Amino acid sequence: MSEKSALSAAEEIDHIWALLRRQGYAVTDDEAIGLPSQFREHFSRAYFNEETLKHDEGDWPIDRKRARDVIRYYWFDSDLELEEHDRITIMNRAGIAGEREHHRIPLLKDALGAAFARALLHLVPEERRQPDGTLGVNMFRTYTNVVESPHQDNEEFIILYVLDRIGSGATSYLYEVTADGDAMPTPVLEQQLNPGQVLIFEDKRFLHGATPLEPPPGEATARRDVLVCTVDYRATYLEQAPEPRCGITVTRRGI
Ligand SMILES: [Fe+2]
Repeated sequence: MSEKSALSAAEEIDHIWALLRRQGYAVTDDEAIGLPSQFREHFSRAYFNEETLKHDEGDWPIDRKRARDVIRYYWFDSDLELEEHDRITIMNRAGIAGEREHHRIPLLKDALGAAFARALLHLVPEERRQPDGTLGVNMFRTYTNVVESPHQDNEEFIILYVLDRIGSGATSYLYEVTADGDAMPTPVLEQQLNPGQVLIFEDKRFLHGATPLEPPPGEATARRDVLVCTVDYRATYLEQAPEPRCGITVTRRGI
């Protein structure tokens, strides 16, 4: 990254922190946060293909394909160390009891994968950083429904990064949740994210989701490739609870 683009990425990150502090969400894009210009093309080619993405029995939407990684991170002042976490098993999530495994892609062996994890973790405002934790990286390819309904993922921050979309629809939305746990009637955000765009939000403040995909005119199939990343609570991997934790619940989760 040139000095000029590093400077503008630093300014963009300051802006994202201000938005997260004020309203709990922010929309940005890959180049603005300092990802290399070839990132999207490289990631699409390397990981969003038939060898990498698998449909797992019981997963929903029924035609969704996915892969996953979990990265362990440690902050030392402004230095960030990363390593592959020892397991990616999901426990008692998405309305499915017990353990779930998904196809794993160890992203840190790829310099761009490591750059991606670093860029995302820098989006978390300094005062909200945990000294160490896990970052879940979920790669999803969907064709019809993106999620079942508005939901929460019970993680600290959720970061969506759209790599590719064929067709329209897939409008992301956030409904603010009141202190009583009710969702406000109108969304604070309703936006179709285009390839390259990034949405970060604080999970507990919103119900989130996206509308179904719509194929291009005259075509039968739509498709959306997205990375859904979670800045996890410790209970997700580091202090696993035996039973599902409560949240505002709303049927299945997206992850
Ligand atoms: Fe979700």
